[in-house]
Amino acid sequence: MTKQFETNILCIGAGYVGGPTMAVIAQKCPKVKVCVVDINKTRIDAWNSENLPIYEPGLDEVVKEARGRNLFFSTEIDKEIADAEIIFVSVNTPTKQYGIGAGKASDLQYWEKTARSIVAASNTNKIIVEKSTLPVRTAEAMERVLNSNDKGLHFEVLSNPEFLAEGTAIADLHNPDRVLIGSMETETGIKARKKLFDIYANWVPQEKIVTSNVWSAELTKLTANAFLAQRISSVNAISALCEATKADVKEISRAIGMDTRIGAKFLNASVGFGGSCFKKDVLNLVYIAESNGLPEVAQYWEWVIKMNEYQETRFVENMIKAMFNTVANKKIALLGFAFKKDTGDTRETPALFVSKKLAEERALITISDPKALENAKTDLKDLSGISYEIDPYVASRDSHAVAVLTEWDLYKTLDYEKIYKSMVKPAMIFDGRNILDHQKLFEIGFDVYRIGKQALLHSETAFI
Ligand code: UDX
Ligand code: ADP
Repeated sequence: MTKQFETNILCIGAGYVGGPTMAVIAQKCPKVKVCVVDINKTRIDAWNSENLPIYEPGLDEVVKEARGRNLFFSTEIDKEIADAEIIFVSVNTPTKQYGIGAGKASDLQYWEKTARSIVAASNTNKIIVEKSTLPVRTAEAMERVLNSNDKGLHFEVLSNPEFLAEGTAIADLHNPDRVLIGSMETETGIKARKKLFDIYANWVPQEKIVTSNVWSAELTKLTANAFLAQRISSVNAISALCEATKADVKEISRAIGMDTRIGAKFLNASVGFGGSCFKKDVLNLVYIAESNGLPEVAQYWEWVIKMNEYQETRFVENMIKAMFNTVANKKIALLGFAFKKDTGDTRETPALFVSKKLAEERALITISDPKALENAKTDLKDLSGISYEIDPYVASRDSHAVAVLTEWDLYKTLDYEKIYKSMVKPAMIFDGRNILDHQKLFEIGFDVYRIGKQALLHSETAFI
């Protein structure tokens, strides 16, 4: 039989990272066979259908181009492991909820299970690539689990952390700032690293493919996310000060961002950051610092998370205060539930905290979001008094307040005149993302509450 493909790549875990990453590798490397497997059959069926399981701009086109040609989705995990030369592991690594390190360390049970299945199903040597965010030195642990096999097989573990952001995953994959590949500094390690390097070199300029030792690669991922999260927490801390004075956080961000040493990105004050990575990775860093006897370092990074929780709490408490200290039985429309625009992902979304807090105060909440309503329903299934409505106009009707919690572009251009007319007066709007035209909303008649700038109120006696 002639070999149809040059290399066989497998990815275990068909989630937000594995799916898009493999789709782009397949698109850019037609001579490489790329297969993605998952234990979740529903997810695999969705990847094989017209309705992909995740929403990501540009993903549909990439999958359409490569699926069936050299991109495959399957649940036959053992068979695919046996056939593969390079295996990416992209299973979930949530924060551990029990025992030692609860609330901070990564729960590695899925990773270890995967490593053991790899050993069981393999008959040839393989390169194993860590793609999930894992604590530093996991590669070493994996190396031990994998290489203590009695089949005489050798597994070379690489770390190839993912820097893509949801909503821009395809663009980030097509044109990454850098690709980082960490390996053991042994002959076999360097050889394996070269193999992965050559795959990325099919479309990424060589100078952007950086290599390092495994531990640096692992720690780089946590550091990158911790630095980004820290910027948002820093600007959010300043936003509280702005609301208490006459300063405007947007003006401050603009001027700070023009300092090229600092740069303009990740300086938007908001209701808080969410997503599957920031909190988890910063807590991981905290745990590693603690485990290494560095309590000051741990506390320093822990405050990045505490500042985020403070910002979420402050936002919802301001809402309640503004609504005359009671929201019981008042209808409130929440526009946006995803953790940011252009994704249906709701993991760690600040909207979850806001919804729970308002539900505790017995508000009647209507949640609207163009892509995240199904996830919202699952996240909030234990709460009563919540309804879901894709149309923002219907969601806002008869409400006392509207709060924008995700920066979807569509919320910038809604007919707020129409929304105002359909609401209970005084009508309040809380812009948790600072994306609306506040002056215009004020002129329409709204009391306008925003992040990092004093509220625009029609009455001097308004609460806050
Ligand atoms: C992040 C990292 O950016 C990415 O490199 C890593 O691989 C995974 O984690 P992601 O979670 O997809 O990506 O989202 P990101 O765009 O970083 O936003 C995270 C959160 O911060 C969102 O809730 C976003 O709304 C918020 N944010 C971002 C702000 O509140 N202000 C900003 O200025 C930027
Ligand atoms: P990420 O954002 O890191 O991609 P996701 O939760 O979206 O995380 O995806 C992880 C995927 O890994 C899930 O679809 C889950 O079913 C899958 N998974 C977890 N454990 C295993 C395993 N042992 N074998 C195969 N797939 C797994």
